[in-house]
Amino acid sequence: MKWLVLLGLVVFTECIVKIPLRRVKTMRKTLSGKNMLNNVLMEHPYRLPQISFHGSNLTIHPLRNIRDTFYVGNITIGTPPQEFQVVFDTGSAVLWVPSVFCNSSTCSTHVRFRHHQSSTFRPTNKTFWINYGAGRMKGVVAHDTVRIGDLVSTDQPFGLSMAEYGFEGRRFDGILGLNYPKQSYSRPIPIFDKLKNQGAISEPVFAFYLSKDEQEGSVVMFGGVDHRYYKGELNWVPLVRVASPYEGQPNHGDTGSSHIQGPGRLVDNIQKLTGAKPRGSKHYVSCSVVNTLPSIVFTINGINYPVPAQAYILKDSRGRCYTAFREKRVRTSTESWVLGDVFLRLYFSVFDRGNDRIGLALAV
Ligand SMILES: *[C@@H]1O[C@H](CO)[C@@H](O)[C@H](O)[C@H]1NC(C)=O
Ligand SMILES: *[C@@H]1O[C@H](CO)[C@@H](O)[C@H](O)[C@H]1NC(C)=O
Ligand SMILES: *[C@@H]1O[C@H](CO)[C@@H](O)[C@H](O)[C@H]1NC(C)=O
Ligand SMILES: *[C@@H]1O[C@H](CO)[C@@H](O)[C@H](O)[C@H]1NC(C)=O
Repeated sequence: MKWLVLLGLVVFTECIVKIPLRRVKTMRKTLSGKNMLNNVLMEHPYRLPQISFHGSNLTIHPLRNIRDTFYVGNITIGTPPQEFQVVFDTGSAVLWVPSVFCNSSTCSTHVRFRHHQSSTFRPTNKTFWINYGAGRMKGVVAHDTVRIGDLVSTDQPFGLSMAEYGFEGRRFDGILGLNYPKQSYSRPIPIFDKLKNQGAISEPVFAFYLSKDEQEGSVVMFGGVDHRYYKGELNWVPLVRVASPYEGQPNHGDTGSSHIQGPGRLVDNIQKLTGAKPRGSKHYVSCSVVNTLPSIVFTINGINYPVPAQAYILKDSRGRCYTAFREKRVRTSTESWVLGDVFLRLYFSVFDRGNDRIGLALAV
């Protein structure tokens, strides 16, 4: 099951995940008519004041920005705790780290979970596999104590990879999925849902602030929203749920979600508008013109979210400038965009799981 949002969402790495998003127009179509949309909006009244802004039980967890490509944070698993660097990923719903049993080359270059050294480890014989665009892995489900800062989930189901294919050169040990649980498929309960059910987080909300350029400063926060990370008001976008194949289908995990992906025709227009010329998989512009290029404005739920050229022009390893716009390889029946890190560095994002909506505001 995928969550098609009105808006694009997130992905933290080139190789990982995405939530295909839908714009409001799409939702109107889906609901056949504006009145139904209004009804939906009314059934999900903005509970903003009820989101804990007081920080009573707000957990703010630091993330490290790896070359503006992905953002990793530390978690621990087991008793005594073993530390892992994971991508906090809104596009998938499973937590996994490499197992000490995994012999693949990518496992041996990362921290592997030594289950025999954990007194709280509990095995199962359930196996699973996940296919991301840039790699796939298979493994077994196990249970143990997982900690994200002060948040503790005991007997948390998670995956231990036994074999990995692809993923060469990745800079993280595992992935912590924050997406909705897949309902059509018996998957272990995701850590966010378990923390929520246990009452460990006061509000079913998490939010991201992604820093620009600097390694430090990025955070993911759980249980509420810290005002200091954004300016002005949060604007809310309702989510639409659409039945579709579960995660693990090849069409879910295509690459490029650190970029902005959209329908080919519209992305072509943007490349033409910026004078970008294709070379390999990228469209390049001269770095000297960046300051003359226009902003690209996404209008979501009637609110404009400009993305200036300084944000959507990226530099490759040789210092050449290319645009962050990519044609979305996965075809969906309606036009949708995946707004990756390029967008999320500009806009602080709040995932309100209690009200099935995403909040956006200008990041500080
Ligand atoms: C994660 O842990 C490593 C080693 O313990 C540390 O160097 C790094 O700064 C930590 N990362 C974050 C984001 O706190
Ligand atoms: C990894 O290698 C060891 C030793 O060669 C072997 O016993 C083990 O079964 C292998 N694990 C997997 C998952 O293939
Ligand atoms: C593994 O699966 C078998 C058959 O389904 C079951 O009888 C057994 O209890 C399971 N073992 C564990 C540790 O879950
Ligand atoms: C915050 O956490 C404490 C201790 O875990 C708990 O007693 C309290 O009810 C929580 N507050 C809210 C608003 O959830």
